[in-house]
Amino acid sequence: MKTLTITNQKGGVGKTTLVINLAQFATIEHKHKVAVIDLDTQGNASWTLAADVVANTGNIFFDNKIDSLNASRDLNVISSDYRLANIEKIDVEQIADNLKAIQKKLQEQNVDLFIIDTPPSMGNALVSSLLVADYVLCPIELEAFSLQGVHKMRNAINNIKTLNSDLTELGLLPSRVENRNATHRRQLHEIQQSFPQLICPYSIFNRSSIADAVSERTWIGNNKKTSARKAAHELSDVTNWILQRIELA
Ligand SMILES: Nc1ncnc2c1ncn2[C@@H]1O[C@H](COP(=O)(O)OP(=O)(O)OP(=O)(O)O)[C@@H](O)[C@H]1O
Ligand SMILES: [Mg+2]
Repeated sequence: MKTLTITNQKGGVGKTTLVINLAQFATIEHKHKVAVIDLDTQGNASWTLAADVVANTGNIFFDNKIDSLNASRDLNVISSDYRLANIEKIDVEQIADNLKAIQKKLQEQNVDLFIIDTPPSMGNALVSSLLVADYVLCPIELEAFSLQGVHKMRNAINNIKTLNSDLTELGLLPSRVENRNATHRRQLHEIQQSFPQLICPYSIFNRSSIADAVSERTWIGNNKKTSARKAAHELSDVTNWILQRIELA
């Protein structure tokens, strides 16, 4: 099993949208067995993927119920519950140990891919998710100051790498990209210059059909409208690229 943390300290860059789509495409198109844990108290991934919830974060971090975690579905979601806010009061090592216990349980049940959605702040949830991950991928928005945010994120990841030497950076995935937006084009160019090895060869474009599928709790692959098919095709390409990088395709 491979564990992939999706993160960026900046809010609203498309982390949760990627988590949801990657989970759906990996399950439906690649027939992988997937688990998602929502470590964000906002609970957005939990809300969209509500039909696939098998446990909640309170069960994992406060109720000692990891042993009874049942991941028999194709997609298995551990949703965030109201007690997740208290995670900031628990020792990071303890949270990481709980996450490792979940990983063991999921591995025993033949889960291929474990995806961690993180909140937009450098707290215990984010740090512990990086301590237990094999891979980290950072969606980025191509707005003004995005380069500064990337530097901050990379510093944080490099610090964690001293504690988790197995952590591999998949890189920076431009998200919510508008081709006709001059700022986006300029920012993409700057980031390509600054981080040539880290910028992903694919982007996720800003498309209302993507936001609609997330808010309607549907899979975009089932939407036959032309614009949605284009978006689904792009998301499928991003999924293929990620799965290849983590040796699941
Ligand atoms: N490719 C896209 N096209 C159109 N809308 C998008 C796209 N990606 C994300 N959005 C929208 O942008 C908003 C923020 O996206 P999302 O929740 O995925 O970001 P996030 O990084 O998880 O945010 P947070 O940091 O608050 O957790 C949402 O309303 C979502 O529907
Ligand atoms: Mg989010």
